[in-house]
Amino acid sequence: MEEQIAKIKEVALEEIKEATNAKELDDARVKYLGKKGELTSILRGMGSLSPEERPIIGSKVNEVRDELESLIKSRENEFSKLELERKLKEERIDITLPATKIKRGSKHPLNRIIEEVEDLFVSMGYDVVTGPELETDEYCFERLNLPKGHPARDMQDSFYITSEYLLRTQTSAVQARTMMANEEKSPIRVICPGKTYRRDDDATHSHQFSQVEGLLIDKNISLADLKGTLEVFVRKMLGENLELRFRPSYFPFTEPSYEVDVSCFKCGGKGCNLCKQTGWIEVLGSGMVHPKVLKMNGYDPEKYTGFAFGTGLDRLAMFKYGITDIRLLYQNDVRFLNQFDRLDR
Ligand code: DAH
Repeated sequence: MEEQIAKIKEVALEEIKEATNAKELDDARVKYLGKKGELTSILRGMGSLSPEERPIIGSKVNEVRDELESLIKSRENEFSKLELERKLKEERIDITLPATKIKRGSKHPLNRIIEEVEDLFVSMGYDVVTGPELETDEYCFERLNLPKGHPARDMQDSFYITSEYLLRTQTSAVQARTMMANEEKSPIRVICPGKTYRRDDDATHSHQFSQVEGLLIDKNISLADLKGTLEVFVRKMLGENLELRFRPSYFPFTEPSYEVDVSCFKCGGKGCNLCKQTGWIEVLGSGMVHPKVLKMNGYDPEKYTGFAFGTGLDRLAMFKYGITDIRLLYQNDVRFLNQFDRLDR
Protein backbone atom coordinates (compact mmCIF):
# COMPACT_ATOMS: atom_id res chain seq x y z
CA MET A 1 0.00 0.00 0.00
CA GLU A 2 2.78 2.39 0.99
CA GLU A 3 4.51 1.61 -2.21
CA GLN A 4 1.39 2.38 -4.17
CA ILE A 5 1.13 5.73 -2.42
CA ALA A 6 4.75 6.51 -3.16
CA LYS A 7 4.18 5.62 -6.81
CA ILE A 8 1.10 7.84 -7.06
CA LYS A 9 3.07 10.63 -5.46
CA GLU A 10 5.90 10.31 -7.89
CA VAL A 11 3.72 10.19 -10.99
CA ALA A 12 1.39 12.95 -9.72
CA LEU A 13 4.28 15.31 -8.87
CA GLU A 14 5.68 14.73 -12.30
CA GLU A 15 2.37 15.44 -13.99
CA ILE A 16 1.78 18.59 -11.98
CA LYS A 17 5.27 19.83 -12.78
CA GLU A 18 4.79 19.18 -16.46
CA ALA A 19 1.39 20.80 -16.81
CA THR A 20 1.78 23.57 -19.34
CA ASN A 21 -1.46 25.42 -18.66
CA ALA A 22 -4.23 25.86 -16.09
CA LYS A 23 -6.42 23.24 -17.79
CA GLU A 24 -3.78 20.49 -17.62
CA LEU A 25 -3.08 21.40 -14.02
CA ASP A 26 -6.74 21.09 -13.15
CA ASP A 27 -6.99 17.75 -14.91
CA ALA A 28 -4.13 16.48 -12.77
CA ARG A 29 -5.78 17.77 -9.63
CA VAL A 30 -9.01 15.92 -10.48
CA LYS A 31 -7.11 12.81 -11.43
CA TYR A 32 -5.37 12.50 -8.04
CA LEU A 33 -7.26 14.59 -5.53
CA GLY A 34 -10.77 14.71 -7.02
CA LYS A 35 -13.72 12.76 -5.59
CA LYS A 36 -12.84 9.79 -7.73
CA GLY A 37 -9.15 10.58 -7.73
CA GLU A 38 -6.46 7.97 -7.15
CA LEU A 39 -5.40 9.24 -3.76
CA THR A 40 -8.99 9.68 -2.63
CA SER A 41 -9.79 6.06 -3.55
CA ILE A 42 -7.05 4.89 -1.20
CA LEU A 43 -8.63 6.81 1.65
CA ARG A 44 -11.97 5.26 0.73
CA GLY A 45 -10.50 1.79 0.80
CA MET A 46 -9.04 2.22 4.30
CA GLY A 47 -11.93 0.17 5.78
CA SER A 48 -10.26 -3.00 4.63
CA LEU A 49 -7.01 -2.25 6.48
CA SER A 50 -6.08 -3.50 9.88
CA PRO A 51 -6.48 -0.99 12.75
CA GLU A 52 -2.70 -0.74 13.11
CA GLU A 53 -2.18 0.10 9.47
CA ARG A 54 -4.97 2.65 9.24
CA PRO A 55 -3.32 5.64 10.98
CA ILE A 56 -0.04 5.04 9.23
CA ILE A 57 -1.57 4.90 5.77
CA GLY A 58 -3.99 7.70 6.67
CA SER A 59 -1.24 10.09 7.65
CA LYS A 60 0.84 9.05 4.66
CA VAL A 61 -2.03 9.83 2.26
CA ASN A 62 -2.64 13.19 3.99
CA GLU A 63 1.01 14.04 3.74
CA VAL A 64 1.08 13.28 0.02
CA ARG A 65 -2.18 15.16 -0.51
CA ASP A 66 -0.76 18.25 1.24
CA GLU A 67 2.36 18.07 -0.83
CA LEU A 68 0.41 17.75 -4.10
CA GLU A 69 -1.95 20.56 -3.10
CA SER A 70 0.84 22.94 -2.29
CA LEU A 71 2.58 22.22 -5.56
CA ILE A 72 -0.69 22.70 -7.44
CA LYS A 73 -1.20 26.02 -5.64
CA SER A 74 2.24 27.28 -6.52
CA ARG A 75 1.81 26.26 -10.15
CA GLU A 76 -1.57 27.97 -10.23
CA ASN A 77 0.06 31.16 -9.04
CA GLU A 78 2.64 30.76 -11.73
CA PHE A 79 -0.03 30.44 -14.41
CA SER A 80 -2.09 33.36 -13.19
CA LYS A 81 1.01 35.50 -13.09
CA LEU A 82 1.81 34.51 -16.66
CA GLU A 83 -1.78 35.23 -17.66
CA LEU A 84 -1.62 38.68 -16.09
CA GLU A 85 1.63 39.43 -17.85
CA ARG A 86 0.13 38.33 -21.16
CA LYS A 87 -2.90 40.57 -20.64
CA LEU A 88 -0.82 43.54 -19.64
CA LYS A 89 1.23 43.13 -22.76
CA GLU A 90 -1.70 42.52 -25.07
CA GLU A 91 -4.01 45.21 -23.74
CA ARG A 92 -1.38 47.83 -23.37
CA ILE A 93 -2.70 51.37 -23.90
CA ASP A 94 -0.45 54.11 -25.15
CA ILE A 95 -1.50 56.98 -22.97
CA THR A 96 0.77 59.34 -24.84
CA LEU A 97 -1.44 59.16 -27.96
CA PRO A 98 -3.49 62.31 -28.57
CA ALA A 99 -7.17 61.94 -27.56
CA THR A 100 -9.97 61.76 -30.11
CA LYS A 101 -11.54 65.20 -30.33
CA ILE A 102 -15.20 65.39 -29.31
CA LYS A 103 -17.14 67.54 -31.75
CA ARG A 104 -19.14 70.17 -29.97
CA GLY A 105 -21.93 72.32 -31.36
CA SER A 106 -21.87 76.08 -31.04
CA LYS A 107 -24.39 78.52 -29.70
CA HIS A 108 -26.55 80.08 -32.40
CA PRO A 109 -25.64 83.75 -32.93
CA LEU A 110 -29.25 84.80 -32.28
CA ASN A 111 -29.29 82.96 -28.97
CA ARG A 112 -26.05 84.67 -28.05
CA ILE A 113 -27.63 88.06 -28.66
CA ILE A 114 -30.82 87.13 -26.77
CA GLU A 115 -28.81 85.94 -23.76
CA GLU A 116 -26.74 89.10 -23.79
CA VAL A 117 -29.83 91.34 -23.92
CA GLU A 118 -31.51 89.33 -21.18
CA ASP A 119 -28.46 89.48 -18.91
CA LEU A 120 -28.23 93.22 -19.35
CA PHE A 121 -31.88 93.96 -18.59
CA VAL A 122 -32.11 91.45 -15.76
CA SER A 123 -29.15 93.27 -14.19
CA MET A 124 -31.25 96.45 -14.35
CA GLY A 125 -34.19 94.78 -12.59
CA TYR A 126 -36.30 93.76 -15.56
CA ASP A 127 -38.20 90.49 -15.88
CA VAL A 128 -38.05 88.39 -19.04
CA VAL A 129 -41.57 87.52 -20.24
CA THR A 130 -43.01 85.69 -23.22
CA GLY A 131 -46.23 85.73 -25.19
CA PRO A 132 -47.84 83.55 -27.84
CA GLU A 133 -46.57 83.58 -31.42
CA LEU A 134 -50.07 82.83 -32.66
CA GLU A 135 -51.62 86.06 -31.47
CA THR A 136 -55.04 87.67 -31.64
CA ASP A 137 -55.72 90.77 -33.70
CA GLU A 138 -56.86 92.31 -30.42
CA TYR A 139 -53.46 92.07 -28.68
CA CYS A 140 -51.31 92.52 -31.75
CA PHE A 141 -53.11 95.65 -32.94
CA GLU A 142 -56.34 96.79 -31.27
CA ARG A 143 -54.98 97.16 -27.75
CA LEU A 144 -51.93 98.97 -29.13
CA ASN A 145 -54.07 101.71 -30.58
CA LEU A 146 -54.24 100.22 -34.05
CA PRO A 147 -57.96 99.77 -34.69
CA LYS A 148 -59.15 97.88 -37.76
CA GLY A 149 -58.71 99.98 -40.87
CA HIS A 150 -55.87 102.04 -39.30
CA PRO A 151 -53.40 102.94 -42.08
CA ALA A 152 -50.40 101.96 -39.91
CA ARG A 153 -51.52 98.33 -40.12
CA ASP A 154 -50.28 98.38 -43.69
CA MET A 155 -46.70 98.82 -42.39
CA GLN A 156 -46.82 95.22 -41.26
CA ASP A 157 -47.80 92.66 -43.87
CA SER A 158 -49.38 90.01 -41.69
CA PHE A 159 -49.98 86.29 -41.90
CA TYR A 160 -53.61 85.93 -40.85
CA ILE A 161 -54.75 82.43 -39.87
CA THR A 162 -58.38 83.46 -39.38
CA SER A 163 -59.90 86.93 -39.26
CA GLU A 164 -59.06 87.12 -35.55
CA TYR A 165 -55.82 85.10 -35.28
CA LEU A 166 -52.48 85.89 -36.91
CA LEU A 167 -48.79 85.15 -36.47
CA ARG A 168 -47.67 88.11 -34.39
CA THR A 169 -45.98 90.81 -36.43
CA GLN A 170 -44.39 92.46 -33.42
CA THR A 171 -43.47 91.55 -29.85
CA SER A 172 -45.31 94.75 -28.85
CA ALA A 173 -48.33 92.47 -28.41
CA VAL A 174 -46.74 91.36 -25.14
CA GLN A 175 -46.95 94.95 -23.84
CA ALA A 176 -50.74 94.77 -23.82
CA ARG A 177 -50.68 91.26 -22.35
CA THR A 178 -48.35 92.29 -19.53
CA MET A 179 -50.41 95.37 -18.64
CA MET A 180 -53.65 93.39 -18.65
CA ALA A 181 -52.10 90.68 -16.48
CA ASN A 182 -50.70 93.21 -13.99
CA GLU A 183 -53.93 95.14 -13.45
CA GLU A 184 -52.33 98.44 -12.47
CA LYS A 185 -49.87 96.84 -10.08
CA SER A 186 -46.92 99.12 -10.67
CA PRO A 187 -44.16 99.09 -11.63
CA ILE A 188 -43.84 97.03 -14.80
CA ARG A 189 -40.33 96.35 -15.97
CA VAL A 190 -40.18 93.68 -18.64
CA ILE A 191 -38.46 92.68 -21.82
CA CYS A 192 -39.86 90.14 -24.20
CA PRO A 193 -37.58 88.53 -26.78
CA GLY A 194 -39.27 86.31 -29.32
CA LYS A 195 -40.12 85.28 -32.84
CA THR A 196 -42.20 87.50 -35.11
CA TYR A 197 -43.57 87.03 -38.62
CA ARG A 198 -44.23 89.22 -41.66
CA ARG A 199 -44.75 88.58 -45.34
CA ASP A 200 -41.24 89.59 -46.44
CA ASP A 201 -38.39 87.59 -47.90
CA ASP A 202 -35.14 89.15 -49.11
CA ALA A 203 -31.55 89.56 -47.93
CA THR A 204 -32.48 91.97 -45.15
CA HIS A 205 -35.97 90.65 -44.38
CA SER A 206 -37.05 87.15 -43.49
CA HIS A 207 -40.67 86.06 -43.11
CA GLN A 208 -39.71 84.95 -39.64
CA PHE A 209 -37.49 87.20 -37.60
CA SER A 210 -36.82 88.05 -33.97
CA GLN A 211 -37.54 91.10 -31.90
CA VAL A 212 -37.15 92.20 -28.34
CA GLU A 213 -39.67 94.46 -26.74
CA GLY A 214 -39.13 96.54 -23.62
CA LEU A 215 -41.79 98.09 -21.41
CA LEU A 216 -41.47 100.12 -18.24
CA ILE A 217 -44.44 101.64 -16.46
CA ASP A 218 -44.39 103.47 -13.15
CA LYS A 219 -45.21 106.80 -11.63
CA ASN A 220 -43.18 109.76 -12.93
CA ILE A 221 -41.41 108.05 -15.78
CA SER A 222 -40.05 110.54 -18.29
CA LEU A 223 -38.30 110.66 -21.61
CA ALA A 224 -35.01 111.03 -19.71
CA ASP A 225 -35.49 107.51 -18.34
CA LEU A 226 -36.08 106.18 -21.84
CA LYS A 227 -32.99 107.93 -23.20
CA GLY A 228 -30.77 106.73 -20.38
CA THR A 229 -31.98 103.16 -20.68
CA LEU A 230 -31.55 102.98 -24.43
CA GLU A 231 -28.09 104.54 -24.23
CA VAL A 232 -26.99 101.78 -21.86
CA PHE A 233 -28.62 99.15 -24.07
CA VAL A 234 -27.16 100.28 -27.40
CA ARG A 235 -23.67 101.02 -26.07
CA LYS A 236 -23.46 97.71 -24.23
CA MET A 237 -24.50 95.80 -27.34
CA LEU A 238 -22.69 97.68 -30.08
CA GLY A 239 -19.89 99.74 -28.55
CA GLU A 240 -19.31 101.99 -25.55
CA ASN A 241 -18.26 105.06 -27.49
CA LEU A 242 -21.14 105.22 -29.92
CA GLU A 243 -23.38 108.28 -30.26
CA LEU A 244 -27.16 107.99 -30.17
CA ARG A 245 -29.62 110.14 -32.07
CA PHE A 246 -33.31 110.28 -31.15
CA ARG A 247 -35.24 111.05 -34.33
CA PRO A 248 -38.94 111.97 -33.96
CA SER A 249 -41.08 109.34 -35.64
CA TYR A 250 -44.50 107.79 -35.49
CA PHE A 251 -45.78 104.62 -33.83
CA PRO A 252 -49.45 104.28 -32.94
CA PHE A 253 -48.68 102.97 -29.45
CA THR A 254 -46.29 105.70 -28.32
CA GLU A 255 -46.52 109.45 -28.06
CA PRO A 256 -44.06 111.02 -28.59
CA SER A 257 -42.28 108.38 -30.66
CA TYR A 258 -38.64 108.16 -31.67
CA GLU A 259 -36.50 106.08 -33.87
CA VAL A 260 -33.04 105.70 -32.42
CA ASP A 261 -30.01 105.91 -34.66
CA VAL A 262 -26.51 104.99 -33.63
CA SER A 263 -23.36 106.49 -35.11
CA CYS A 264 -22.03 104.02 -37.67
CA PHE A 265 -19.76 101.54 -35.90
CA LYS A 266 -18.10 100.59 -39.16
CA CYS A 267 -16.92 103.98 -40.39
CA GLY A 268 -17.24 105.93 -37.17
CA GLY A 269 -19.76 108.30 -38.76
CA LYS A 270 -17.80 109.32 -41.83
CA GLY A 271 -20.13 107.49 -44.22
CA CYS A 272 -19.79 104.02 -45.75
CA ASN A 273 -21.84 101.35 -47.47
CA LEU A 274 -23.24 99.99 -44.19
CA CYS A 275 -24.72 103.34 -43.14
CA LYS A 276 -25.50 104.26 -46.75
CA GLN A 277 -23.15 107.26 -46.48
CA THR A 278 -25.28 108.87 -43.74
CA GLY A 279 -23.02 108.08 -40.79
CA TRP A 280 -26.03 106.75 -38.85
CA ILE A 281 -27.73 103.38 -38.52
CA GLU A 282 -31.28 102.96 -37.30
CA VAL A 283 -31.45 100.48 -34.43
CA LEU A 284 -34.61 100.96 -32.37
CA GLY A 285 -38.21 102.13 -32.28
CA SER A 286 -39.32 103.70 -29.02
CA GLY A 287 -41.43 106.25 -27.24
CA MET A 288 -43.57 107.12 -24.25
CA VAL A 289 -46.49 104.71 -23.93
CA HIS A 290 -49.54 106.36 -25.49
CA PRO A 291 -52.14 107.37 -22.87
CA LYS A 292 -54.77 105.55 -24.87
CA VAL A 293 -52.72 102.33 -24.69
CA LEU A 294 -52.30 102.71 -20.93
CA LYS A 295 -56.02 103.27 -20.53
CA MET A 296 -57.13 100.47 -22.83
CA ASN A 297 -54.98 98.02 -20.87
CA GLY A 298 -56.09 98.98 -17.39
CA TYR A 299 -53.61 101.70 -16.35
CA ASP A 300 -54.79 105.20 -15.45
CA PRO A 301 -52.75 107.60 -17.62
CA GLU A 302 -53.29 110.33 -15.02
CA LYS A 303 -51.31 108.27 -12.50
CA TYR A 304 -48.90 106.29 -14.63
CA THR A 305 -46.46 106.96 -17.41
CA GLY A 306 -44.09 104.62 -19.12
CA PHE A 307 -41.80 104.01 -22.02
CA ALA A 308 -41.53 101.23 -24.57
CA PHE A 309 -39.05 100.19 -27.19
CA GLY A 310 -38.62 97.48 -29.74
CA THR A 311 -35.78 96.30 -31.91
CA GLY A 312 -34.90 93.54 -34.32
CA LEU A 313 -32.54 91.01 -32.79
CA ASP A 314 -31.51 89.75 -36.22
CA ARG A 315 -30.19 93.17 -37.12
CA LEU A 316 -28.30 93.36 -33.85
CA ALA A 317 -26.72 89.96 -34.53
CA MET A 318 -25.88 90.98 -38.10
CA PHE A 319 -24.20 94.20 -36.94
CA LYS A 320 -22.35 92.50 -34.15
CA TYR A 321 -21.03 89.57 -36.16
CA GLY A 322 -20.80 91.15 -39.62
CA ILE A 323 -23.48 88.89 -41.14
CA THR A 324 -24.72 90.19 -44.49
CA ASP A 325 -27.76 88.00 -45.16
CA ILE A 326 -30.47 87.62 -42.52
CA ARG A 327 -31.55 84.29 -44.01
CA LEU A 328 -28.30 82.70 -42.80
CA LEU A 329 -29.69 83.01 -39.29
CA TYR A 330 -32.60 80.72 -40.16
CA GLN A 331 -31.11 78.15 -42.52
CA ASN A 332 -29.06 76.36 -39.87
CA ASP A 333 -26.21 75.58 -42.21
CA VAL A 334 -23.53 74.12 -39.92
CA ARG A 335 -20.77 75.66 -42.05
CA PHE A 336 -22.14 79.04 -41.05
CA LEU A 337 -22.97 78.16 -37.44
CA ASN A 338 -19.61 76.47 -36.75
CA GLN A 339 -17.85 79.77 -37.25
CA PHE A 340 -19.30 80.94 -33.96
CA ASP A 341 -17.78 78.17 -31.85
CA ARG A 342 -14.53 80.06 -31.55
CA LEU A 343 -16.33 82.70 -29.47
CA ASP A 344 -16.51 80.08 -26.72
CA ARG A 345 -12.81 79.29 -26.65
N1 DAH B 1 -43.19 97.18 -32.79
C1 DAH B 1 -42.40 98.10 -33.61
C2 DAH B 1 -42.02 97.42 -34.92
O1 DAH B 1 -42.14 96.22 -35.02
C3 DAH B 1 -41.16 98.51 -32.86
C4 DAH B 1 -41.49 99.38 -31.71
C5 DAH B 1 -41.53 100.74 -31.87
C6 DAH B 1 -41.78 98.86 -30.48
C7 DAH B 1 -41.82 101.59 -30.84
C8 DAH B 1 -42.07 99.70 -29.42
C9 DAH B 1 -42.10 101.06 -29.60
O2 DAH B 1 -42.34 99.24 -28.21
O3 DAH B 1 -42.39 101.87 -28.57
O4 DAH B 1 -41.60 98.08 -35.80
